[in-house]
Amino acid sequence: MPAPALLLQDLCKTYDNGFTALHSIDLQVQQGDFFALLGPNGAGKSTTLGIISTLVRKSSGKVEVFGLDLDREPLRAKSLLGIVPQEFNFHSFETVEQTLVQQGPYYGLNGQESRRQAQKYLELLDLGAKSRSRVMDLSGGQKRRLMIARALIHEPKLLFLDEPTAGVDIEIRRSMWSWLRELNQQGTTVVLTTHYLEEAQNLCRNIAIINHGRVIANTSMRELLRRLDRNTFLFEAKNPVSEEQLARLQQSLPFDRKDEHTLRLEVQKEQGLNQVLEQLAAAGLELHYIQPEANQLETLFVKLTQP
Ligand SMILES: Nc1ncnc2c1ncn2[C@@H]1O[C@H](COP(=O)(O)OP(=O)(O)OP(=O)(O)O)[C@@H](O)[C@H]1O
Ligand SMILES: [Mg+2]
Repeated sequence: MPAPALLLQDLCKTYDNGFTALHSIDLQVQQGDFFALLGPNGAGKSTTLGIISTLVRKSSGKVEVFGLDLDREPLRAKSLLGIVPQEFNFHSFETVEQTLVQQGPYYGLNGQESRRQAQKYLELLDLGAKSRSRVMDLSGGQKRRLMIARALIHEPKLLFLDEPTAGVDIEIRRSMWSWLRELNQQGTTVVLTTHYLEEAQNLCRNIAIINHGRVIANTSMRELLRRLDRNTFLFEAKNPVSEEQLARLQQSLPFDRKDEHTLRLEVQKEQGLNQVLEQLAAAGLELHYIQPEANQLETLFVKLTQP
């Protein structure tokens, strides 16, 4: 079995002010995986990423990158890692191109190679037209893309992104999803944190949820979704639903009203929708539309992370 791309073992972090942000985190991300690290604000996601990037000192525990201990072989381990932090950390007066080109030598690229790589990722992230702009003159989404380009310049085998699509518009988010997927298909292991659960659901095969510095779930996305054995649906009628219709429906199923046209019902997966639809038809309701009330994963996430 090859070494995992990322191994965190009994990782603990107590900040200087005495606050413990991580209580013994154990995690493994296998090579080639697309992995989501989820958790509410303050859960410890960025602290974890900070430790992996060596910007935050861990209190105890171990980090390995493709089997290389980050303490013992920091340079080799870091050459395999691309890190996209949550906060922008550029020199604002430099140009976009300078920001990328001067990253190369840290990873052993010469001037020509650095320029070539910079060009490649400027294009991939749709920043070509901005290459001579100062970083301070970029929009938020453009800065986010520049952070990603910078992390890719040495073609890391493990890319760890902290909320890469925060503040990025929908079109660019979709295009980011598509090339992140492509990058992953070409062999790069990708780990991301996100608050967009739809994003995790779309992209990631495996997932860990942390809360208050502890791992509270660590499983495949498919398995996590399987745990959801019920879903709340909204049934939208063409005409307003009368009191009589609602009363009649409630004799057999516990519908409640969302608005004039819309009824809400929690449905067990094994129960299915046939019976529900029959009842609605029998009550004389003409259905216009059915939709799940919320994203399934979101529902589960809230359930798991609530005290
Ligand atoms: N330098 C620091 N000193 C003291 N406490 C800190 C420091 N940095 C972070 N913390 C605390 O550690 C906890 C975890 O923070 P962290 O930034 O890792 O959370 P996060 O999961 O990334 O949250 P978000 O989703 O908001 O980005 C928080 O309670 C935070 O206040
Ligand atoms: Mg964070």
